[in-house]
Amino acid sequence: MKKPFKRILYGGDYNPNQWPREIWQEDMRMFRNAHINSATINVFSWAKIQPSEETYDFEELDDIVEMLEQEECDIVMGTSTAALPAWMVKRYPEVARTDYEGRHHKFGHRHNACPNSLVYQKYAAALTEQLARRYGKTGKVACWHINNEYGGECYCENCEKAFRVWLKKKYKTIEALNEAWNMEFWGHTVYDWDEIVLPNALGEGIGTDKTAFAGISIDYRRFNSDSILENFKMERDIIRKYDPETPITTNLMGTYPGLDYFKWAKEMDIVSWDNYPSYNTPWSQTAMCHDLMRGLKDQPFMLMEQTPSQQNWQPYNSLKKPGQMRAQSYQTVAHGADTIQFFQLRRSVGACEKFHGAVIAHAGTENTRVFREVTALGAELERLGETVIGSMPDAKIGVIFDWDNYWALEYTSGPNCDLKYVDQIHQYYSSLYRGNYPVDMIPVDADFSRYKVILAPVLYMVKEGMAEALEKFVAGGGILLTTFMSGIVGQSDNVHLGGYPGPLREMAGVWVEEIDALAPEQSNTIRFADGTDASCRLLCDLMHLEGAQALAEYTSNFYAGMPAVTRNAYGKGAVYYVGANLDQAALDKVLGQLLTEAGVGSNVEESTELEVTVRQSKTQKITFIINFKAQDLPLPAQFAGKTDLLTGQTLDTQTMLAPYDVVIVAENR
Ligand code: GLA
Ligand code: ZN
Repeated sequence: MKKPFKRILYGGDYNPNQWPREIWQEDMRMFRNAHINSATINVFSWAKIQPSEETYDFEELDDIVEMLEQEECDIVMGTSTAALPAWMVKRYPEVARTDYEGRHHKFGHRHNACPNSLVYQKYAAALTEQLARRYGKTGKVACWHINNEYGGECYCENCEKAFRVWLKKKYKTIEALNEAWNMEFWGHTVYDWDEIVLPNALGEGIGTDKTAFAGISIDYRRFNSDSILENFKMERDIIRKYDPETPITTNLMGTYPGLDYFKWAKEMDIVSWDNYPSYNTPWSQTAMCHDLMRGLKDQPFMLMEQTPSQQNWQPYNSLKKPGQMRAQSYQTVAHGADTIQFFQLRRSVGACEKFHGAVIAHAGTENTRVFREVTALGAELERLGETVIGSMPDAKIGVIFDWDNYWALEYTSGPNCDLKYVDQIHQYYSSLYRGNYPVDMIPVDADFSRYKVILAPVLYMVKEGMAEALEKFVAGGGILLTTFMSGIVGQSDNVHLGGYPGPLREMAGVWVEEIDALAPEQSNTIRFADGTDASCRLLCDLMHLEGAQALAEYTSNFYAGMPAVTRNAYGKGAVYYVGANLDQAALDKVLGQLLTEAGVGSNVEESTELEVTVRQSKTQKITFIINFKAQDLPLPAQFAGKTDLLTGQTLDTQTMLAPYDVVIVAENR
């Protein structure tokens, strides 16, 4: 058991090393006023703490640590290995990355180290050792934050060699590899491991996001995720030698495609992530990301970064409106966060992030809207801490999210270039979100028996053992929903022969003979058995019933009359199969029927446009009610008579929530 946080960490990235010391005391005074109780330091300071190959200099970092300690500020300690110092790249050019186009990079930017460079590893390890030895036993660190937003790819010769080693371990023989990648196609058979090259623009890549051989490209993604994970594990293990109990994390990025986060989370003590929605990101999408981050370890997570006001790197960096940062923070807590941290505490003076929002603006005073809002939230979270820390939702619906599937689905050449994994998952999530159903985002190897319903939209890649696990779930009484583009390939992207949806065919009770692709301006119509008409787009399965019952049929195109949505009783449960990308109303209708059949309840009795989310502790049920709509909305009647934890006031049937208003109700269980 790792040391849990004793309070909601409230703070964020703090770079006093970028500022003259006179400002530090001013920072401390302002943090105190804003109820900031934590600071994330040393995230990008490699060049400062190791000015040359032979020398380390911790004088300034020691002072920063001491200052924060005096303030009783919990320290989140970065390891600074996410941006290479100039001296290293100059002396050892191999530490830099080679990009997709095959260009080897010079010094510059960040997230720029080749994960397979032994030189990088050596210096990252040495630096971590220094930090861990110095601060690991002091008890001054509340959490270790390794590197920063791991990601990206490297296609250098070191990586190529490492890839071959990784492949050899996986496939054992070159014949097995040729078969897995279907290398007879275009006569790409390789006879020696050394003939294998990385699948970038100089190899199998087509443009920047497609590939001639998905088998090799998916394996490269797995390999790259593993290579970078090895870097994380290396630093983690060094820290553990000196510090047995402080949690170790690295900040993830929601549905970021580059790394298999379910695999990563197994190596992390606690998940942390950076939430940067853009001005038009639906709130349901942010909620889905939070649920995914909680799902990675099935534990509360840390919000490592969010901006208090605006970003700098989006095309349009709108301000958060009054109350929006607070509402967004409560949404984060509602979905499982035990910390609220900002990027950043003081706005930087130069370089590309000088327009990135911060708790302390360039004006340098407390007299700003943002500072006042941060302060007010800090005071509230201070009071809320004990009630929520460690609590979790109790969801009976699991939505499968799988990075292998993500990669494979988006690498496919055809049938439709507009098919995007996250978008498909989000359509289903969003329907559940609007109904305020608690949802867990789960991996393909989750314990399905915890759930009544499993949604597996576009489960294109069905790897070994998955169909059996799903069959067992349904046979035992579970309700499974899957869709078009499911059950098509195995782990190497070769098709499950014998008709789609391959290994899901029997339990779904349908055979998909063909898949039609629709351009954005095209759509088809469908009709439900009760006469309701709806539309669908993107992809349309032409399918035959093999025991399933049609819930809706196409009413247009040459396949009018064929089933579009089906339900098949299987064992004690049922499989719903959605053969086309349904419009929102149709999707809601199918899910509505499914949830009724499964007997799964919502977080709120009446239908409401408010977001209503629940976390449960051993003794309490904590309900977060948030208005993300532009108009005032009435509090659902079931909460009348309860006390709002934030204001201490008794809620009544007249209570209205203005836009961005939040109400939190705690009830004994
Ligand atoms: C990321 C990084 C931070 C900072 C922010 C800006 O999340 O981790 O260092 O660059 O973006 O939004
Ligand atoms: Zn490399």
